[in-house]
Amino acid sequence: MKKAEWLKTGFANEPISKDIDLKEAIQAFKKEKNAVIMAHYYQTGDIQDIADYVGDSLALAQWAAKTEADIIVLCGVHFMGETAKILSPTKKVLVPDLNAGCSLADSCPAELFEQFVDKHPGYTVISYVNTTAAVKAVTDVVVTSTNAKQIVDSFPKDEKIIFGPDRNLGNYINSITNRNMLLWDGACHVHEQFSVEKIIELKAKYPEADVLAHPECKSTILALADYIGSTAALLKYSMNSDKDTFIVATESGILHEMQKRSPEKTFIPTPPNDSTCACNECSFMRLNTMEKLYNCLKYEYPEIEVDPEVAEKAVKPIQKMLEISEKLGL
Ligand code: 13P
Ligand code: SF4
Repeated sequence: MKKAEWLKTGFANEPISKDIDLKEAIQAFKKEKNAVIMAHYYQTGDIQDIADYVGDSLALAQWAAKTEADIIVLCGVHFMGETAKILSPTKKVLVPDLNAGCSLADSCPAELFEQFVDKHPGYTVISYVNTTAAVKAVTDVVVTSTNAKQIVDSFPKDEKIIFGPDRNLGNYINSITNRNMLLWDGACHVHEQFSVEKIIELKAKYPEADVLAHPECKSTILALADYIGSTAALLKYSMNSDKDTFIVATESGILHEMQKRSPEKTFIPTPPNDSTCACNECSFMRLNTMEKLYNCLKYEYPEIEVDPEVAEKAVKPIQKMLEISEKLGL
């Protein structure tokens, strides 16, 4: 009965007694079940703090491929859980809330992408990790924002390439590698929201601040950035920079780790375009909560499953990405 109810909600929606200390109980479940918690930088601070590993999309895939735990709890979005399951098919991969999707992955339905690929014979297909397993299954090599430039650079200059699904990341990589890859027209609803005006206002208020931007942002935002990089690269830049103030144009969850690593520095989230919404927060990432994490470990639900035939095809381009990244020391 319970399970039928959970299937409707997409998570184990069992009431939790107020007497339970969630942090202690989560730690106890982890030990008892030999589970590991991996969290993306866009998770809320409490989830990042209890996680065994906190990282960007590339790091999450690398850890998932190597872990010896029996259960991986992936606190992130669905495609991250799928990637972990594809890389570690014998492990149980759980996500706190199955509804945690991704607008960018949704902007690239597998059937349409496959038709697009079929229309362009002779093209190498490079897909961002923010895609479904079915899209990865028709891909030659997967990339993340940490390794996209280097992986694209590993192909000859005249290689015909399809790059999907993020048009902003694709345009950015085209510009820095001097290529003309064919782009899928997808985007992330969080990174597309940032407004040039708001950043210019912040720059006027904090003239000494550096603007840090994720390459999923539009080119008009990237043009204002002092540094462009993946979440892990932005974090590293903020730690190593002599500057003490940063205007951050990516999902605001990353500020938690930035502030933790550099408590003396000031981090300003780029405000959303429309002040009535919290659109610099990923609504999907924020579906995960400590309560859902607790129930997910307790009931070992929801579990990520990937069709074995799809997984068999999708694992190849992901492995290829991991191999190239390892060679490059990423
Ligand atoms: P990275 O983790 O590669 O920085 O990408 C950000 C993102 O959008 C994750 O969904
Ligand atoms: Fe997807 Fe954007 Fe959310 Fe990342 S921030 S998970 S790309 S919707």
